Amino acid sequence: MAEKTICKLTELPEGGTRLVEIDGTKVGLFRLADGEIVAIEDRCSHDDGPLAEGTFDPAACTVECPRHGSLFDLRSGRPKTLPAYSPVETYPVRIEDGVVKLEID
Ligand code: FES
Repeated sequence: MAEKTICKLTELPEGGTRLVEIDGTKVGLFRLADGEIVAIEDRCSHDDGPLAEGTFDPAACTVECPRHGSLFDLRSGRPKTLPAYSPVETYPVRIEDGVVKLEID
């Protein structure tokens, strides 16, 4: 598991998102209403839709796939609505000295 530095915490305010690419894997980071940061792969399990571009609800901790509308829980990566039925990859996020770090293989 490698740890990658993403950005300063101040660059990702509550309700904010950020898309990064690490060794060919696109990952979306989302800062929730309570300040927690979660990260999922930016690829819908239904038909590879760009999940991080979907509508983000920071209070409900969900993102809606922009392609066919499946709603995903950002903590678990599990879809809450069809047509997707498989979870997407999630990644641990750590804050250290005001810097956002992501753990990824
Ligand atoms: S690609 Fe995401 S719901 Fe179809």
